[in-house]
Amino acid sequence: MTKAITATEVDQTDLPERMATEKHPRAIRWMHWFNVPILTVMIWSGLRIYWSYDVSRVPSIRFGEETLFPEGFYDVLQLDRKLARGMAFHFSFGWLFLINGLLYVLYLAASKEWKHLIPRFADIKKIPALLLHDIGLRKEAPEQGQYNVMQQLAYSGVTVLGFLAVATGFAIYKPVQLSWLTSIFGGYQSARLIHFIVTMSFLAFFVVHIIQVVRAGFGNFWSMVTGYELEPADEPVLEKEVADV
Ligand code: HEM
Repeated sequence: MTKAITATEVDQTDLPERMATEKHPRAIRWMHWFNVPILTVMIWSGLRIYWSYDVSRVPSIRFGEETLFPEGFYDVLQLDRKLARGMAFHFSFGWLFLINGLLYVLYLAASKEWKHLIPRFADIKKIPALLLHDIGLRKEAPEQGQYNVMQQLAYSGVTVLGFLAVATGFAIYKPVQLSWLTSIFGGYQSARLIHFIVTMSFLAFFVVHIIQVVRAGFGNFWSMVTGYELEPADEPVLEKEVADV
């Protein structure tokens, strides 16, 4: 049996201290989580293709014919074979990556969610204060919206990386039919190098992103799953249903 009682009758420790606020729209969450397996397959299959010719050489720059990864790297990850399989996965998941990325950008534009992501000049000026706060030399974190300025830079940066990955990908996928695109990136070899650097930047983003997510705590991670984040409640709860024991 339950009965309603007023807040004054309840022990303060019984009152809910937090309330849920909506943080991430459903569409963003779906596209975000879709991106994780898609990008994993893209990097895995891309490295399989890279293995078949892992010399990075741009004729106009010339920095030798050194290979970046030692043989053992491909051995351990078992990437040193099955080039055709790598290509098949890369060229099919690439379309999923493109469609998901396009939908994300369209959604950001249509829903005005991009306003959370793109830093304004006033936000850029907060970088020193934020860095001082992060290394413990400043008590108060500067005011922020949904994301702080470093997150805004990382998230808008990774969206640009996605665009570059697709553009350089097409430049080296169809260098004859899309020769205009290939030449924008300085020719086939340099488009290939930029494509590779973009991949490594995705990996660097990923490492920093995971560190940030772990530092921000489980509630922040869970908000990307459920859409809601728990925040301290401002309003006092006037009536509460409690079990009558
Ligand atoms: C297992 C891997 C991942 C986890 C656990 C994770 C977790 C999260 C979380 C918790 C947020 C919300 C941050 C906040 O509210 O402060 C977020 C946002 C974001 N993540 Fe990830 N993420 C992962 C992989 C990725 C990957 C692979 C990418 C893209 C390369 C990515 C790109 C983004 C972007 C762009 C946002 C901002 C989304 C928006 O609000 O529009 N994440 N992620």
